[in-house]
Amino acid sequence: MGILLKDFQGSLPLYILLLCCLVDICQSLTSDGEALVNFRTSIISSDDVLGQWRPEDPDPCGWKGVICDSKTMRVISLNVSNHKLKGLISPDIGKLDHLKFLDLHYNNFYGEIPPELGNCTELQGLFLQNNYLSGFIPTGLGNLSNLQTLDISSNSLDGRIPTSLGNLRNLLTLNVSSNFLAGPIPTDGVFDQFGSNSFVGNSDLCGKQINKLCKDEVGNQQTTGNQNVKKNSGRLLISASATVGALLLVALMCFWGCFLYKKLGKNDAKGIAKDVSGGASIVMFHGDLPYSSKDIIKKLEALNDEHIIGAGGFGTVYKLSMDDGNVFALKRIVKLNEGFDRFFERELAILGSIKHKYLVNLRGYCNSPTSKLLLYDYLAGGSLDEALHENGDEQLAWETRVKIIMGAAKGLAYLHHDCSPRIIHRDIKSSNILLDGNFEARVSDFGLAKLLEDEESHITTIVAGTFGYLAPEYMQSGRATEKTDVYSFGVLMLEVVSRKRPTDASFIEKGLNIVGWLNYLVTEDRQREIIDGECEGVEAETSDALLSVAIQCVSPSPEDRPTMDRVVKTLESEVMTPCPSDFYDSASD
Ligand SMILES: Nc1ncnc2c1ncn2[C@@H]1O[C@H](COP(=O)(O)OP(=O)(O)OP(=O)(O)O)[C@@H](O)[C@H]1O
Ligand SMILES: [Mg+2]
Repeated sequence: MGILLKDFQGSLPLYILLLCCLVDICQSLTSDGEALVNFRTSIISSDDVLGQWRPEDPDPCGWKGVICDSKTMRVISLNVSNHKLKGLISPDIGKLDHLKFLDLHYNNFYGEIPPELGNCTELQGLFLQNNYLSGFIPTGLGNLSNLQTLDISSNSLDGRIPTSLGNLRNLLTLNVSSNFLAGPIPTDGVFDQFGSNSFVGNSDLCGKQINKLCKDEVGNQQTTGNQNVKKNSGRLLISASATVGALLLVALMCFWGCFLYKKLGKNDAKGIAKDVSGGASIVMFHGDLPYSSKDIIKKLEALNDEHIIGAGGFGTVYKLSMDDGNVFALKRIVKLNEGFDRFFERELAILGSIKHKYLVNLRGYCNSPTSKLLLYDYLAGGSLDEALHENGDEQLAWETRVKIIMGAAKGLAYLHHDCSPRIIHRDIKSSNILLDGNFEARVSDFGLAKLLEDEESHITTIVAGTFGYLAPEYMQSGRATEKTDVYSFGVLMLEVVSRKRPTDASFIEKGLNIVGWLNYLVTEDRQREIIDGECEGVEAETSDALLSVAIQCVSPSPEDRPTMDRVVKTLESEVMTPCPSDFYDSASD
């Protein structure tokens, strides 16, 4: 007995360990939790909304965006819309077979809609709109007999609409608009109850729902058309071709976006450490930074995915914090061409010499055999694009919007008129206007478009990122001038006052973009309607003056557009009360 007890005492820690393991096993994550962890694994970047999903939790019921049934503890709702999630939608989502509500809209998901979603037969709402999803609509979605809302609009889906969707007897809302779907819209089952709004913006769809005859019907019915029908179809054709053009460009942009991301973005963090480990040199432009090259390289080596703050057409952007509290934004541009170095360095030296209150300073760069790491001042307010479109209910007040427009105008005017050599930006858009903590605007990425002109990534990213802001003559000739920048600036003004992206779905649906919509409103003398109705503090006088400047900037003919100097002067005299400090600023620049 004594020996037994001694034996037991000797192995006590082992038993405790075993017990702990057993408890641990009992507490291991539920199968729904595991499916969600796998869902997260296939996401390569986000705004960190999933950071708090801990695999060591017993279940996912307290995770952000997740709701469980209180009795079964099964996941019934997953809502992670509008969180910059980029990656594939994991097929494991199909394991959440108690899911009633899945909302992934307004993210950057690409790849196919997983056919496994057809297993989630409890689904009542499926929201995948505004992503970059491609491929066919899975036929298995026709199994979701409880589905009431299906929104997969504004993606890059192609192929035919599966007839199986006609089986969705409970469907109340269907939106497949703005994709690349083709062929006849099925007429069986629930398809009968949906009108054109559910299908618009798919160039090759046909069917009675969108008043477009399918090819085999055309021969039979062509002769019966009267004048009105012809007129309407003419209009339809124009708006459809505008939409097709728009959508084709968007598709190109999505395709290249994914391609570039895969090529440049995925392993960026590891890439940075690799870039600098193979021998790197630092070039600083403003002699006021107290860091040695060694300090900076050490910081660069420590960068990882957690430091990513954004990704654009040229590469990934990281937040780089120095030990003294100073923060910078680091843009990684992967070299694609031989002979890139000399030209690039000469141009960077010019960009680095430019310093202005309304421009984002380029502080220096790190030169490595594989990449260029550009070091910019960090702007705490993020981009204007985010402030306008991704801030939920917190909208910019009128006064702030006017201040931002004014700052951006001054930054661009400086590039056009006061710099030597003068610089055409070529990529004016809301994501290239950054904001400081006080909502002062600074124009960023000037000169980069030209710099990367010969790079494989360049042409695509310019068209991709800037589509909707491009002047008509730039679209045709590809030749940038100061006046093409002025046009983009006009579009930017419209975006700020309307809080609508230039190619917002509401414009595309009408076969237009923001400028087309403005022009239409002008012909009806209703241009004030473009102003964001939810914006606080709109003043009729300043809004009229702003609109009048914007209308001139987006004139179809470049000669009718004002110069940026003129824009600044008009805004100063008609929209702003002059601020004495501005005189000092421009003097010191
Ligand atoms: N200097 C900076 N300070 C703070 N955030 C920045 C800075 N530069 C970039 N960012 C963030 O990184 C994001 C991506 O910027 P990036 O310039 O790479 O892409 P983009 O502006 O969307 O497209 P493009 O490559 O055409 O300029 C921005 O939207 C912004 O949120
Ligand atoms: Mg940018």
